[in-house]
Amino acid sequence: MKKKMYFVWANPKKESLTAKIVNSMKKQGLENGYEVSELDLYRSGFEGSLEVMDHPVWDSKEQNYSQKVYDLFDEVKGSDTVVFVFPIWWYSFPAILKGYIDRVWNYGLAYGNGSKIPVEKVRWVALAGDTEQSFKKRDNDKYLEHFTINSISSYCGITDAKLEIIYDTLIFDKEPAGSEAYKTLFKRVNTIIDDLDK
Ligand SMILES: Cc1cc2nc3c(=O)[nH]c(=O)nc-3n(C[C@H](O)[C@H](O)[C@H](O)COP(=O)(O)O)c2cc1C
Repeated sequence: MKKKMYFVWANPKKESLTAKIVNSMKKQGLENGYEVSELDLYRSGFEGSLEVMDHPVWDSKEQNYSQKVYDLFDEVKGSDTVVFVFPIWWYSFPAILKGYIDRVWNYGLAYGNGSKIPVEKVRWVALAGDTEQSFKKRDNDKYLEHFTINSISSYCGITDAKLEIIYDTLIFDKEPAGSEAYKTLFKRVNTIIDDLDK
């Protein structure tokens, strides 16, 4: 049976660098024999705000979330690898991605009440407009690492979790497709996929 790779990504622009990275990594996943699927949060009609209907009832073993939550949880569960790709906004997630975690990696499904998310590995690929030096000046790399790896992945029971921060993304606005900078970038992100099976 093929291993499953599930991409969850967030960018309002269809032609964004985020989208290009997702495409490259998806292709690499397919080449490496994975069954690849994706949740393009912006173009799938996902509502990023947790409302009352998806708020956990903490003292109940039974939850009654909206069908959308169960459908999206069914999509992610059983994945060998989940890959999140997103631009860093205010040193964190775009709100729609935070909303995905709030609503879908929910109590009693992904954590809590004896649950852990049935996913083997998670990779977080975060795009920063800042240079590495500027980003690290206030320890924002450590902050994002803590948030993605400890606060979310480990909390939901995933021990094989890694974050890759791509710095200085704004240079790609001026780069032609196929340039050395793009080739180096795609090689780097595709290595994340290759390394899954090492
Ligand atoms: C609302 C907003 C907030 C941003 N905040 C940050 C930030 O905190 N740190 C950073 O390095 N870049 C920040 N950026 C720059 C984005 O990370 C950058 O635009 C993105 O990496 C470019 O990739 P894209 O073309 O896929 O959107 C921000 C951009 C926006 C629109």
